[in-house]
Amino acid sequence: MMMPENGHRAHGFSSAFFLDSDEIIKELDLKGNETFMDAGCGDGHIAIKVIEEYLPEGHVYAVDVYDASIEDMETYKKENNIENLTNIEADITEGIPGVDDESIDVVLLVNVFHGFKASRKLDEAVDELARIIKKDGKIAIMDYKAWDVPKGPPTQMRSSPEDLEKLFASHGLKMTYLNEEIGEDIPEGKSHYLIMFEKE
Ligand SMILES: C[S@@+](CC[C@H](N)C(=O)[O-])C[C@H]1O[C@@H](n2cnc3c(N)ncnc32)[C@H](O)[C@@H]1O
Repeated sequence: MMMPENGHRAHGFSSAFFLDSDEIIKELDLKGNETFMDAGCGDGHIAIKVIEEYLPEGHVYAVDVYDASIEDMETYKKENNIENLTNIEADITEGIPGVDDESIDVVLLVNVFHGFKASRKLDEAVDELARIIKKDGKIAIMDYKAWDVPKGPPTQMRSSPEDLEKLFASHGLKMTYLNEEIGEDIPEGKSHYLIMFEKE
Protein backbone atom coordinates (compact mmCIF):
# COMPACT_ATOMS: atom_id res chain seq x y z
CA MET A 1 0.00 0.00 0.00
CA MET A 2 1.36 3.43 -0.89
CA MET A 3 1.52 5.91 1.97
CA PRO A 4 -0.79 8.87 1.26
CA GLU A 5 0.98 12.18 0.66
CA ASN A 6 -0.26 13.65 3.95
CA GLY A 7 1.13 10.66 5.88
CA HIS A 8 -2.33 9.64 7.17
CA ARG A 9 -3.23 5.98 7.29
CA ALA A 10 -5.84 4.84 4.79
CA HIS A 11 -7.64 1.59 4.12
CA GLY A 12 -7.72 1.62 0.33
CA PHE A 13 -5.95 3.62 -2.30
CA SER A 14 -5.97 7.40 -1.80
CA SER A 15 -7.38 9.23 -4.79
CA ALA A 16 -4.79 11.98 -4.09
CA PHE A 17 -2.45 9.97 -6.32
CA PHE A 18 -4.59 10.09 -9.45
CA LEU A 19 -7.60 12.43 -9.12
CA ASP A 20 -7.60 16.22 -8.97
CA SER A 21 -9.41 17.08 -5.73
CA ASP A 22 -10.01 20.70 -6.82
CA GLU A 23 -11.73 19.44 -9.98
CA ILE A 24 -14.02 17.34 -7.78
CA ILE A 25 -14.74 19.97 -5.12
CA LYS A 26 -15.48 22.67 -7.71
CA GLU A 27 -18.29 20.49 -9.06
CA LEU A 28 -20.06 20.94 -5.72
CA ASP A 29 -20.39 24.70 -6.12
CA LEU A 30 -19.80 25.37 -2.41
CA LYS A 31 -20.61 28.89 -1.22
CA GLY A 32 -18.43 28.86 1.92
CA ASN A 33 -20.77 28.23 4.84
CA GLU A 34 -22.19 24.78 4.16
CA THR A 35 -22.16 21.66 6.29
CA PHE A 36 -20.15 19.18 4.25
CA MET A 37 -19.36 15.49 4.74
CA ASP A 38 -16.49 13.52 3.20
CA ALA A 39 -17.97 10.03 3.57
CA GLY A 40 -15.30 7.35 3.33
CA CYS A 41 -12.66 10.03 3.75
CA GLY A 42 -9.62 7.70 3.78
CA ASP A 43 -6.52 9.85 4.32
CA GLY A 44 -8.84 12.87 4.57
CA HIS A 45 -7.11 14.89 1.87
CA ILE A 46 -10.44 16.06 0.44
CA ALA A 47 -11.93 16.95 3.84
CA ILE A 48 -8.75 18.87 4.71
CA LYS A 49 -8.74 20.78 1.43
CA VAL A 50 -12.42 21.65 1.83
CA ILE A 51 -11.81 23.01 5.35
CA GLU A 52 -8.67 24.93 4.47
CA GLU A 53 -9.68 26.35 1.09
CA TYR A 54 -13.43 26.16 0.49
CA LEU A 55 -15.42 26.30 3.72
CA PRO A 56 -13.91 28.83 6.11
CA GLU A 57 -17.33 29.47 7.64
CA GLY A 58 -18.73 25.99 7.19
CA HIS A 59 -18.47 22.71 9.04
CA VAL A 60 -16.84 19.51 7.78
CA TYR A 61 -17.54 15.94 8.83
CA ALA A 62 -14.93 13.29 7.96
CA VAL A 63 -16.31 9.77 8.24
CA ASP A 64 -14.58 6.44 7.75
CA VAL A 65 -14.95 2.91 9.03
CA TYR A 66 -11.15 2.58 9.41
CA ASP A 67 -10.16 3.62 12.92
CA ALA A 68 -6.58 4.66 11.99
CA SER A 69 -7.84 7.15 9.39
CA ILE A 70 -10.07 8.80 11.98
CA GLU A 71 -7.27 8.82 14.58
CA ASP A 72 -5.04 10.64 12.08
CA MET A 73 -7.80 13.14 11.32
CA GLU A 74 -8.17 13.77 15.07
CA THR A 75 -4.42 14.45 15.31
CA TYR A 76 -4.68 16.87 12.36
CA LYS A 77 -7.63 18.61 14.07
CA LYS A 78 -5.81 18.99 17.39
CA GLU A 79 -2.44 20.00 15.96
CA ASN A 80 -4.03 22.70 13.81
CA ASN A 81 -6.72 23.85 16.28
CA ILE A 82 -9.49 23.25 13.78
CA GLU A 83 -12.88 23.87 15.34
CA ASN A 84 -15.14 23.28 12.37
CA LEU A 85 -14.21 19.61 11.85
CA THR A 86 -15.94 16.54 13.27
CA ASN A 87 -14.32 13.15 12.70
CA ILE A 88 -16.49 10.06 13.05
CA GLU A 89 -15.49 6.41 12.90
CA ALA A 90 -18.53 4.65 11.48
CA ASP A 91 -19.78 2.19 8.91
CA ILE A 92 -22.02 4.29 6.70
CA THR A 93 -24.27 1.30 5.97
CA GLU A 94 -24.99 0.89 9.69
CA GLY A 95 -25.69 4.55 10.37
CA ILE A 96 -23.46 7.49 11.23
CA PRO A 97 -23.82 8.27 14.94
CA GLY A 98 -23.98 11.89 16.04
CA VAL A 99 -25.25 13.20 12.72
CA ASP A 100 -28.82 14.48 12.90
CA ASP A 101 -31.47 13.83 10.29
CA GLU A 102 -31.47 16.42 7.47
CA SER A 103 -28.40 18.25 8.78
CA ILE A 104 -25.89 18.01 5.89
CA ASP A 105 -25.84 20.28 2.83
CA VAL A 106 -23.44 18.20 0.74
CA VAL A 107 -22.13 14.67 1.21
CA LEU A 108 -19.37 13.52 -1.11
CA LEU A 109 -18.19 9.95 -1.69
CA VAL A 110 -15.08 9.53 -3.81
CA ASN A 111 -14.26 5.94 -4.79
CA VAL A 112 -16.36 4.62 -1.92
CA PHE A 113 -19.74 3.70 -3.39
CA HIS A 114 -18.55 0.62 -5.30
CA GLY A 115 -17.69 -0.94 -1.93
CA PHE A 116 -21.39 -0.88 -0.95
CA LYS A 117 -22.17 -2.95 -4.03
CA ALA A 118 -19.42 -5.41 -3.13
CA SER A 119 -20.79 -5.79 0.41
CA ARG A 120 -24.41 -5.92 -0.88
CA LYS A 121 -25.33 -2.97 1.31
CA LEU A 122 -26.49 -0.55 -1.39
CA ASP A 123 -29.95 0.08 0.06
CA GLU A 124 -28.60 0.56 3.59
CA ALA A 125 -26.04 3.08 2.31
CA VAL A 126 -28.57 5.09 0.31
CA ASP A 127 -31.03 5.12 3.24
CA GLU A 128 -28.36 6.61 5.50
CA LEU A 129 -27.26 9.21 2.94
CA ALA A 130 -30.91 10.19 2.42
CA ARG A 131 -31.43 10.47 6.18
CA ILE A 132 -28.59 12.93 6.77
CA ILE A 133 -29.02 15.34 3.85
CA LYS A 134 -31.18 18.43 4.15
CA LYS A 135 -34.33 18.76 2.02
CA ASP A 136 -32.34 20.68 -0.59
CA GLY A 137 -29.04 18.92 0.19
CA LYS A 138 -26.89 17.06 -2.33
CA ILE A 139 -25.46 13.56 -2.40
CA ALA A 140 -22.45 13.57 -4.74
CA ILE A 141 -20.90 10.29 -5.83
CA MET A 142 -17.71 10.06 -7.82
CA ASP A 143 -16.80 6.58 -8.90
CA TYR A 144 -15.23 4.48 -11.62
CA LYS A 145 -17.17 4.01 -14.85
CA ALA A 146 -18.68 0.56 -15.23
CA TRP A 147 -16.04 -0.43 -17.76
CA ASP A 148 -14.05 -3.61 -17.95
CA VAL A 149 -10.66 -1.93 -17.68
CA PRO A 150 -7.60 -2.91 -15.64
CA LYS A 151 -7.39 0.22 -13.45
CA GLY A 152 -9.83 0.33 -10.54
CA PRO A 153 -12.12 -2.18 -8.85
CA PRO A 154 -13.34 -5.39 -10.53
CA THR A 155 -16.03 -4.77 -13.16
CA GLN A 156 -18.74 -6.55 -11.14
CA MET A 157 -18.28 -4.05 -8.28
CA ARG A 158 -18.90 -1.03 -10.52
CA SER A 159 -22.24 0.67 -11.17
CA SER A 160 -23.23 2.82 -14.14
CA PRO A 161 -24.93 6.20 -13.65
CA GLU A 162 -28.14 4.54 -14.92
CA ASP A 163 -27.86 1.85 -12.22
CA LEU A 164 -27.47 4.55 -9.57
CA GLU A 165 -30.32 6.63 -10.96
CA LYS A 166 -32.64 3.63 -10.60
CA LEU A 167 -31.36 2.75 -7.13
CA PHE A 168 -31.68 6.30 -5.78
CA ALA A 169 -35.13 6.76 -7.37
CA SER A 170 -36.32 3.76 -5.37
CA HIS A 171 -35.34 5.76 -2.22
CA GLY A 172 -37.14 8.94 -3.29
CA LEU A 173 -34.03 10.72 -4.63
CA LYS A 174 -33.77 12.28 -8.06
CA MET A 175 -30.68 12.75 -10.18
CA THR A 176 -29.86 16.43 -10.58
CA TYR A 177 -26.42 16.34 -12.19
CA LEU A 178 -24.17 14.01 -14.16
CA ASN A 179 -20.64 14.61 -15.43
CA GLU A 180 -19.13 11.71 -17.34
CA GLU A 181 -16.01 13.62 -18.39
CA ILE A 182 -14.12 13.67 -15.11
CA GLY A 183 -11.25 11.82 -13.50
CA GLU A 184 -8.07 10.39 -14.84
CA ASP A 185 -7.20 10.12 -18.52
CA ILE A 186 -7.00 6.41 -19.32
CA PRO A 187 -6.73 4.89 -22.82
CA GLU A 188 -10.53 4.37 -22.94
CA GLY A 189 -11.36 7.99 -22.00
CA LYS A 190 -12.10 9.65 -18.64
CA SER A 191 -12.02 7.11 -15.83
CA HIS A 192 -14.87 8.39 -13.63
CA TYR A 193 -18.30 9.97 -13.46
CA LEU A 194 -19.70 12.33 -10.86
CA ILE A 195 -23.41 12.10 -10.20
CA MET A 196 -25.59 14.06 -7.76
CA PHE A 197 -28.94 13.34 -6.15
CA GLU A 198 -31.42 15.38 -4.16
CA LYS A 199 -34.70 14.63 -2.41
CA GLU A 200 -37.79 14.60 -4.67
C1 LIG B 1 -10.64 3.76 -2.01
S1 LIG B 1 -10.71 4.56 -0.46
C2 LIG B 1 -11.09 6.25 -0.94
C3 LIG B 1 -10.75 7.23 0.12
C4 LIG B 1 -10.99 8.70 -0.23
N1 LIG B 1 -12.41 8.97 -0.45
C5 LIG B 1 -10.19 9.13 -1.42
O1 LIG B 1 -10.78 9.55 -2.42
O2 LIG B 1 -8.95 9.06 -1.36
C6 LIG B 1 -12.30 4.03 0.22
C7 LIG B 1 -12.51 4.47 1.67
O3 LIG B 1 -13.86 4.19 2.04
C8 LIG B 1 -13.88 3.65 3.35
N2 LIG B 1 -15.09 2.84 3.49
C9 LIG B 1 -15.40 1.73 2.78
N3 LIG B 1 -16.60 1.25 3.18
C10 LIG B 1 -17.04 2.07 4.15
C11 LIG B 1 -18.20 2.10 4.97
N4 LIG B 1 -19.15 1.16 4.84
N5 LIG B 1 -18.35 3.08 5.87
C12 LIG B 1 -17.38 4.04 6.01
N6 LIG B 1 -16.25 4.07 5.26
C13 LIG B 1 -16.08 3.09 4.35
C14 LIG B 1 -12.59 2.85 3.44
O4 LIG B 1 -12.19 2.62 4.77
C15 LIG B 1 -11.62 3.75 2.66
O5 LIG B 1 -11.02 4.71 3.50
